[in-house]
Amino acid sequence: MPAEQSIHGQWSSRWMYFLAATGSAVGLGNIWKFPYIAGENGGGAFVLVYLVTIVFVGLPVLIAEVTLGRRGKRDPVNSMGDLALEAQVTSRWRGLGWLAALGGLLILSFYTVIAGWALRYMWEAASGAFVGFNSTSSVAYFSAFTNSAGALTAWSTVFLFLTMFCVGRGVNRGIEASLRYVMPLMLALLLIMVGYSMQSGSFQQALQFLFAPDFSKLTVNVILVAMGHAFFTLAVGAGSMMIYGAYVPAKLSLPRVCFDIALADTLIALLAGIAIFPLVFAHDLPVGGGPGLIFMSLPIAFGQMPYGTLMGTVFFLMLTLAAFSSAISAIEGMMTVFIERWHISRSRAAVLLGAGVWVLSLGTVLSFNHGSDLTLLGKNFFDLIDYLTANIMLPTVSLFTALFVGWVMSKENVEQAVLANNRGLFNLWYKTLKYVSPIAIGLVFLAALDVI
Ligand code: PHE
Repeated sequence: MPAEQSIHGQWSSRWMYFLAATGSAVGLGNIWKFPYIAGENGGGAFVLVYLVTIVFVGLPVLIAEVTLGRRGKRDPVNSMGDLALEAQVTSRWRGLGWLAALGGLLILSFYTVIAGWALRYMWEAASGAFVGFNSTSSVAYFSAFTNSAGALTAWSTVFLFLTMFCVGRGVNRGIEASLRYVMPLMLALLLIMVGYSMQSGSFQQALQFLFAPDFSKLTVNVILVAMGHAFFTLAVGAGSMMIYGAYVPAKLSLPRVCFDIALADTLIALLAGIAIFPLVFAHDLPVGGGPGLIFMSLPIAFGQMPYGTLMGTVFFLMLTLAAFSSAISAIEGMMTVFIERWHISRSRAAVLLGAGVWVLSLGTVLSFNHGSDLTLLGKNFFDLIDYLTANIMLPTVSLFTALFVGWVMSKENVEQAVLANNRGLFNLWYKTLKYVSPIAIGLVFLAALDVI
């Protein structure tokens, strides 16, 4: 039997766990990344694959990853070691914990740069910089900003410092309390933005683009990217949900709360898409505009709408906070690995990891300016890390998570950790996890390798 409680802490209630895990899931992935990769990958067909993956793979694996953490109660590496021992299989399964924690660390290295953009835009919105913006000024403004490596580094450093400071103090203090207000406020603001976009004239075109699938756009790569994004946006496969699962209070039943997390995450992404694309079409911005999409489209709206200065400031504040709650979770897995493995204090682990992530983040900073021509396989540093984490590492960890929980652990132990209160639903989940999820991930991988 595993320990009663994790040495790293415990959520104070179901609600707090829900907030923390939703905070981990909802982030830049929903508001910044989802619209631009949907745009780059043909809209509707991409969105459909993304939604299907959430249901058949993302949610089942999310429950499985939380289950691992809950039963293991230790850092991702040690938890996997203990669970492998319990199931009498090779301790090589620890590698799964390493891969997950490493994925989280790599994600943070670019996440902090983009979150730095959000911080900077909050500042600029507050100082009225967007007043009267049109598409030309907005695009020019964005490229001037991203051309400056110094500015990108400065804002990214501020964000990373705040993140590591909070992680260094422990997850319970601070993060739980702020999320209580951030999440509802963010939802309200998104709804206001949707309302504004609806009147902009291109609302129909946006809905068409997002929800009317054009299957001719569906390539193997689009499917791989959509699947990768499903993991990324749910924060699955990066050790975050595993370590947060280790802090889940004793009696909580997992399936329902995980369903709520996935639902909240999906709704926020769709709302972001509905808010952004009408603006993109109305102002003739490029749909495949890449990572700058929301930073080029939203300021135009804020620059023209009543109370735009206030709304813009609050919006980018929300985006920063949403990024913050995800960033913390992205590094928490590796934090606990450092603490348990090298017996160092939390604050020292935060300093060491912060320094490492900072150095890596420079690669992303330079991808938008001096280093944009430095490419491998046609991808700059940022694109590579993004591709490697979302499309390779997260799906790999998820595949093995499904295999471990579905095939290696005993069903009794799984049941004990999941604490489902509905047998039928438990069995449905268990079967999906055992068969559907691994086969689906495996097939997409094989297809991507050009094997089939
Ligand atoms: N889920 C986060 C988002 O959508 C990103 C993330 C991935 C966070 C993996 C933690 C771990 O922005």
